[in-house]
Amino acid sequence: MKLKITLLPGDGIGPEVVAEAVRVLDFIASKYNHTFEYKERLMGGCSIDQYGSSLTDETLADCQSADAVLLGAVGGPKWDNPAAKDRPERGLLALRKGLGVFANLRPVKVHPALMEWSPLKPEKLQGVDILVVRELTGGLYFGFPKGRDLKDGRERAVDTLEYYDYEIRRVMELAFKLAKGRKKKVTSVDKANVLETSRLWRQIATQVGKENPDVELDHMLVDTASMRLITGPAWMDVVVTENMFGDILTDEASVLAGSMGMLPSASLGASGVGLYEPIHGSAPDIAGKGIANPTGTILSTAMMLRHSFNLEAEAAAIEKAVEQTITDGARTADIGGKLSTRQMADEIIKRI
Ligand code: IPM
Ligand code: MG
Repeated sequence: MKLKITLLPGDGIGPEVVAEAVRVLDFIASKYNHTFEYKERLMGGCSIDQYGSSLTDETLADCQSADAVLLGAVGGPKWDNPAAKDRPERGLLALRKGLGVFANLRPVKVHPALMEWSPLKPEKLQGVDILVVRELTGGLYFGFPKGRDLKDGRERAVDTLEYYDYEIRRVMELAFKLAKGRKKKVTSVDKANVLETSRLWRQIATQVGKENPDVELDHMLVDTASMRLITGPAWMDVVVTENMFGDILTDEASVLAGSMGMLPSASLGASGVGLYEPIHGSAPDIAGKGIANPTGTILSTAMMLRHSFNLEAEAAAIEKAVEQTITDGARTADIGGKLSTRQMADEIIKRI
């Protein structure tokens, strides 16, 4: 297969981890006889520095015309000025919207050998295998009106939480579809005791649940869900929720795995281009040192092979290699080891 991948290494440790993920892709390409063609572009803070914009039209077009996009991370203290009119994060949101990737899949699995790195007791972590499906192009992140003004002599700020029925339905249907390949359990998370959008969310979740009677559905309020993630995470399978709740819950869920550096994500739309990125940020404190954990990005390429290219065997080969690498004790600093980013990737490649 010949496939076009646009690379957006971004800021901080982004370029370091993306470089290693590309080496893994190249290894897969030679082993399984595929051709991956890369186009590398700037996005985030580096793009603000170079072009005065966190995401240029040209870069967005290069992403839209690719088969998939691999992103490192964006942001850093250099661009953190709240008064700035562009920010690295704006580029990321514009990219998600521009690609129409409305569902963000964030799997959280705990490798037994990394349990000691999680703040939770090992017995709580036994059997944890959660897939969070976060709605990604709606809600508070994108609703209008949005902004600041002066009202009655007071400074005011407004964000709008808005959801259309079809936005909820499409992400819900995907969550149910994914649950069928897993434990057939969907937990829909909302705040239906307070928010109107959540009542619509729950209504549509219930409808989609009726259309998929082979999948067990339950509803959970987001405050309860945040507690359950810590007190009984093994009980969860697919968790589907709106954008902001998903943002918060996935950071919480990530600590179960011992290190954010381990976790991948995939953002998918109705058709077309998928966006793949590790869930960690740009980690400016360790940027340039060559010690970041590349595993989350490498596992993101596995998700790319599976979801965008339908290359299940290749995806599984990467995932198995990562598991074996961890089992064998290879570790970067975030999980108590001394391997460099490059060495960790070498260990994984050796086992593919
Ligand atoms: C994430 C990040 C982003 C988000 C930021 C960087 C805009 O926290 O991908 O979870 O809030 O979606
Ligand atoms: Mg987040």
